[in-house]
Parts: sequence; structure tokens; C-alpha cells
Amino acid sequence: MSNRLFEPSALGDIALTNRIVMAPMTRARSTQPGDAPNAMNAQYYAQRASAGLIVSEATQISPQGKGYSFTPGIYSDEQVEGWRLVTRAVHDAGGRIFLQLWHVGRMSHPAFHGGDLPVAPSAVPFEGSIWMVDQETGVGGMYDCPTPRALAVEEIHAIVDDYRRAARNAIAAGFDGVEIHGANGYLLDQFLRTTSNVRTDEFGGSREKRLRFLKDVVDAVSDEVGSDKTAIRLAPFLTARGMACPDILPTILEAADYLASKQIAYLHLVEADWDDAPEFTDEFRREIRSRFTAPIIVAGKYDKARADAILESGLADLVAFGRPFVANPDLPRRLAEQLPLADFDGAALFGGSRQGYTDYKAWIPATA
Ligand SMILES: Cc1cc2nc3c(=O)[nH]c(=O)nc-3n(C[C@H](O)[C@H](O)[C@H](O)COP(=O)(O)O)c2cc1C
Repeated sequence: MSNRLFEPSALGDIALTNRIVMAPMTRARSTQPGDAPNAMNAQYYAQRASAGLIVSEATQISPQGKGYSFTPGIYSDEQVEGWRLVTRAVHDAGGRIFLQLWHVGRMSHPAFHGGDLPVAPSAVPFEGSIWMVDQETGVGGMYDCPTPRALAVEEIHAIVDDYRRAARNAIAAGFDGVEIHGANGYLLDQFLRTTSNVRTDEFGGSREKRLRFLKDVVDAVSDEVGSDKTAIRLAPFLTARGMACPDILPTILEAADYLASKQIAYLHLVEADWDDAPEFTDEFRREIRSRFTAPIIVAGKYDKARADAILESGLADLVAFGRPFVANPDLPRRLAEQLPLADFDGAALFGGSRQGYTDYKAWIPATA
């Protein structure tokens, strides 16, 4: 049996104890008001610090970047202080942690913006809804979103500055690096695709122009914190959320060339994680591997056997696990010793208390 998953690894100068990554997972439990992380969040992440690397839940770079209730931010002093609790607890437990930088773009609701419309590359609505808690009833539910407002060019430059400031704040809060969220149909992804970006200026139209926002953000973040602390997550095969762009694969391959030239820390690829999504092709894996030789992380319904196989093939260097980490804080040990995996409570994923969050136990051996 292969043991590649448990080999030590590295991201530049950052040593990792294994090749297992905890995938970014929104859990919507920041302190309200203020969207600041807290001691309960620190305990949750520290419990999972035996992963070689943790990628934090998506974290808004500005109030405008928010699209779900109770998600944390990284733009206020209070939020930076809150994140310090998290990074300290993870480091004390021997782990490593990157912060995921997030701007949701059109996947948002006026309720988060004082009644103003969410923003996007273009005024094109998306198919789907967002999770929000009704302010009056306190009940969470899924809400449809209105057609967004197209950003002016000066506003796009200002958002690039927001990414820069957020990255600086993340390093000040003790993170080992930052992962730019370029996947899953959020703002950066919206710029990449012809389905959501119908601009005719320097930020839309040709492949090169659709890539401009990604490049500007990567340049700003890597200039601010160093390319060795800058990473990105992309979702080439996403079709949901109005993102079925016919040009996305060549666009992402061109992005991979750029990211390789910038010598960023890693490229994180989201694979099919919902039932009707197109499968990743081996041809595409080989194409991206030939362009991007620094570490590639893959995520999406991996188990031990599939993880071993992809690592053996050389087409990925680390494997991220999302859902299995929810109820198995000691997932690396359970995979290594082939221990049973616990199931999570789906009703406790977003928002709420310690229940379904920090109360999942590490494996307790039966006493002899
Ligand atoms: C509860 C939950 C929250 C998630 N939140 C995020 C997020 O904040 N950022 C992100 O890039 N992906 C997010 N994802 C996607 C995961 O990172 C991962 O790609 C996906 O769950 C597939 O991996 P898995 O099959 O091992 O769970 C989330 C997934 C789940 C289940």
C-alpha cells in the first residue's frame, strides 16, 4: 500500500508534516456583529492541525466582499486580533495555516450592503442562491439574489487594493500564507468567464483581458506578502452557478502559465464535488502539470485510495479533504491507521454553536 499521503512535504520554505490538506470550509461562526474570529474558531482549527496544511474558510477582504451570514473578515483590527487566536492555536498544535481571501462579487444580497446591489464584472445574474439569516426572525435559509451592478474600472482597482490590504493583514495575523479564492463562481472566477463577464474594456472580452483581474490580484498580493506566501484556488470544470464558459479550460491553462512565472506557493484545483459536475480529465491534469511545476493541491471527493493514486501519478502533490474533516478532527491518523470515519451533522454545517463544530472527538482507542 502506498504511503505517499503521509510523507513530509513543503511549500517553498514551509515544511509540512504530510501531504494532507484541510480544504477551506465556510462554517459561519464568527462573532457578531463585526465578523471577527473567536476562541471557539481557534479551538476548531487547532483540533484539525495534524493536517499538513489547513486552508481557512473563505474570508471576505472587505464588507463589499461578503455574501453569506456570519462569515469572517480580514479587514478590521478586531478581525486581525481574532485570527491571531486561530493562527497561534494552530501553530502551537504543530500545524500550518493559509487564509483564503474572498470576494463573492455577484453571489450576494443587498441585505449585506445596506440595500445596495452586489457588484460583478457585468450586470448578469447567476443561477443559484445564498445562505442568509433573517435579521428579524434569526432563521437561516437560502435566498435568491438580484441582478448585480457592473463595476467601474476605478472600483476594480480599489478591489485589487482591498486584496493587497487583506493579504497584509493575514500575515500580520500570523498566517503562513494566503490562498486567493479564484474558484466556485465568486468575483475572480466571474471575471474569467464569458458567461459572467461581458465587459468590452481592458477587463473583459479576449482571454487576456478576462485574465487581467486575476493577474492584477496575484501581482498585488505577491508584491505585498511575497510570491512564496501567495497561492490560488481555481475550479476549471465548474458549470453550476451560471459558470459554464466554453473558453474556461484554455483560460485556466493560460492562468497556470502566468502563475508558474510568478512562482507562487501552490495551485489548488477544485474538482467535481457535486453530483452532476463534469469529471476532471487526465488530459487536462497533464496539461496543467506540464505548465505548473510547483505544488498542485487537488480537492473533491478524495478518499485514501484515490489520494494515493493521484500522488503516485505525479499529477498532484497534496490532496485536500473537506467534508471528512468536519467530523474527524484527527483525519490523518484515521486514514493512516484505517480507522472508521465518523459522519457529520449536515444541519450544523453553517452557523450555530460548538455543537456539530468543536464537539467531534478524536479517535478513542477501545481499552484493552
Ligand atoms: C461546508 C462546506 C463549506 C465550504 N466552504 C468553502 C469555502 O469557504 N471555500 C472554498 O474554496 N471551498 C469551500 N467548500 C468546498 C471544499 O473546500 C471542497 O472543495 C469540497 O468540499 C470537496 O471536497 P470534499 O469532497 O473532500 O468535501 C466548502 C465545502 C463544504 C462542504
